[in-house]
Amino acid sequence: MTDLLSRTRSDLAPEELVSSAGEVLARFDHRTQDSGNVSWLVRTPSGDYFVKSAGEEEPPPGAPLPVLDRSARVDLLRNAVEIARSVDHPALARLRSVIELSTGPVLVYDRASGELVGVPAARRNDPDSSYRRFATAPPAIRLAVLDQLLDAHRTLEEAGWVACDLYDGCLMVDPATARLTLIDLDTYRRGPSTNDMGRMFGSTRFMAPEEFTAGAPLDARTTVFTLGRLLRHFGTGLTEDLADFCGGAALAAVVERATRRERTERHGGVGELVAAWTAARDAGAAS
Ligand SMILES: Nc1ncnc2c1ncn2[C@@H]1O[C@H](COP(=O)(O)OP(=O)(O)OP(=O)(O)O)[C@@H](O)[C@H]1O
Ligand SMILES: [Mg+2]
Repeated sequence: MTDLLSRTRSDLAPEELVSSAGEVLARFDHRTQDSGNVSWLVRTPSGDYFVKSAGEEEPPPGAPLPVLDRSARVDLLRNAVEIARSVDHPALARLRSVIELSTGPVLVYDRASGELVGVPAARRNDPDSSYRRFATAPPAIRLAVLDQLLDAHRTLEEAGWVACDLYDGCLMVDPATARLTLIDLDTYRRGPSTNDMGRMFGSTRFMAPEEFTAGAPLDARTTVFTLGRLLRHFGTGLTEDLADFCGGAALAAVVERATRRERTERHGGVGELVAAWTAARDAGAAS
């Protein structure tokens, strides 16, 4: 049996490597992801892992052509390794090992507990969906998760990371413990950059205006906007009306500022956003 944690290289193909390590519980591929990557959840004697590969050169018959070719997908996996090695935070999915195969790396993460908040658009009205259940969870649970989201991004910002493609499909939440694990931050960029795609990767619901404009700056204020959108979306129980915000008026005002279309009117960075959030949170607790 292959031990995924002690290997740094293998001659096996990714799928063989995973099945030689234990029982495959799930496979994530073109049926549910549009990245072109292929990943697995696998149960092994030392624990459950999420194993991510860049997938095949050619999409399987009938599957759409992914936006990025295989070598660009490998670059993103290497970027994910750089993120994991530069930032240590309990809300980030923990990367346990990287195994080099002839086709590129596979990344072995600890399996995150809980469930993915993002669901396909067709399920967003389903009250039983993880999305609706999180959005209507008691305020204390939602605020605890949002605190972790912000704190993780404060740490990411300290290492220079700017959010890209941060959306509800990156949030795994354990409803029993209110624990957040962030997954799939692969397209984050280190340091300020410019919009070189026209429309950046992402879910329109959470993207900043500059992510739709070629040549526009992408920086900490972009991260602030996306975080603000997530806070607003889930903090208002999906109404987007700040009068419904689960943390009260002072926190709602922080969220309003974070989500201004005009970049210069937002907080200058995640550190500033978190300071304002924490001050409003403490004031709310004291009153
Ligand atoms: N650490 C983890 N623990 C448990 N499940 C995970 C973990 N990371 C990812 N998953 C699950 O696997 C799915 C696919 O992972 P991920 O989003 O990283 O893949 P991707 O190929 O980048 O997909 P996308 O097309 O969404 O960009 C996630 O939606 C989530 O359900
Ligand atoms: Mg992805």
